[in-house]
Amino acid sequence: MKIAILPGDGIGPEITKQAVNVIKALNVGAELTEAPIGGAGYKVFGDPLPDLTLDLAIRSDAILLGAVGDWKYDTLPRDKRPERGLLRIRKELNLFANLRPAILYPELVEASSLKAEIVSNLDIMIVRELTGDIYFGEPRGIHKDVNGEREGISTMRYSESEIKRIGHVAFQIAMKRSKKLCSVDKANVLEATELWRQIMIDLSQEYPAVELTHMYVDNAAMQLIKNPKQFDVLVTGNIFGDILSDEASMLTGSIGMLPSASLDTKNKGLYEPSHGSAPDIAGKNIANPLASILSLAMMFRYTFDDEKNANRIELAVKNALSLGFRTADIYSVGDKKVTCSEMGEAVIASLT
Ligand code: IPM
Ligand code: MG
Repeated sequence: MKIAILPGDGIGPEITKQAVNVIKALNVGAELTEAPIGGAGYKVFGDPLPDLTLDLAIRSDAILLGAVGDWKYDTLPRDKRPERGLLRIRKELNLFANLRPAILYPELVEASSLKAEIVSNLDIMIVRELTGDIYFGEPRGIHKDVNGEREGISTMRYSESEIKRIGHVAFQIAMKRSKKLCSVDKANVLEATELWRQIMIDLSQEYPAVELTHMYVDNAAMQLIKNPKQFDVLVTGNIFGDILSDEASMLTGSIGMLPSASLDTKNKGLYEPSHGSAPDIAGKNIANPLASILSLAMMFRYTFDDEKNANRIELAVKNALSLGFRTADIYSVGDKKVTCSEMGEAVIASLT
């Protein structure tokens, strides 16, 4: 069990430290090796994805990533910025399937900005394509047009095979859940997603047990707030998935709770919280480490096929919450307010 630990920037190192403590407490004999990514990679090697980090990631079975990004790197040329390190590692390792669950823990129902009856028991899985779309499409860039005026170009593209492989992942996940799959596109306007819809319909022939529906992304954004429990599994492209997964996370009260898995065809995976690096609170030991710890649970489930340890971690998180422990982002009056490291300790103490 070789795990690469890439803490990254901002609150990345402090939350990752808590997840690493959980791995150690599980006593599973994992081999852990740390390397820098994002701004941290740039600072040491002048590259947001240093060769040494990419090599380590290639040689590992799974990768635990903290977060990347910091305002102080925002003025660097685009290929040196922290985000580039994350996009490159996803692309280099072919991590095309991004699973972002949005689960509301009963203890946190008051932390959601929506009414309890709308979000109680919410459990949605967003399947986001991660290595295609407007994120990687060519041509791209900022150029001068014939009149000397600058023009920014990004290209939304999807090939048939890219759509098929994410489609299969989504249908298979739907088979293991409630057999309902909603594909989100903008097929009324964008050809790339018109093809997406056609291919999802074709694929559905292979999964007759799954009820496939389609929704335009603008409507999906609205329905997620209006009636989120109508959804079970959502499948969508890279850019729509980026936006909808942030939206879905807020239904659950805090983005600090949501893990994610990014998988290749062999279930090698990169695991990271869905949240960002939050440089404004970095180093204060107040961040919520639960998304990172829950990402670890996903690692045991998807890469190591170890449901037992995945459940152990998730149960420990539930126990820590039901004992009243809350970091600042999910705190309400009457709870036990704890720091990032205290939350990590509370989870470890709750491991069974
Ligand atoms: C995410 C993030 C990244 C993305 C950024 C940091 C490049 O927002 O993982 O959702 O857009 O994919
Ligand atoms: Mg995002």
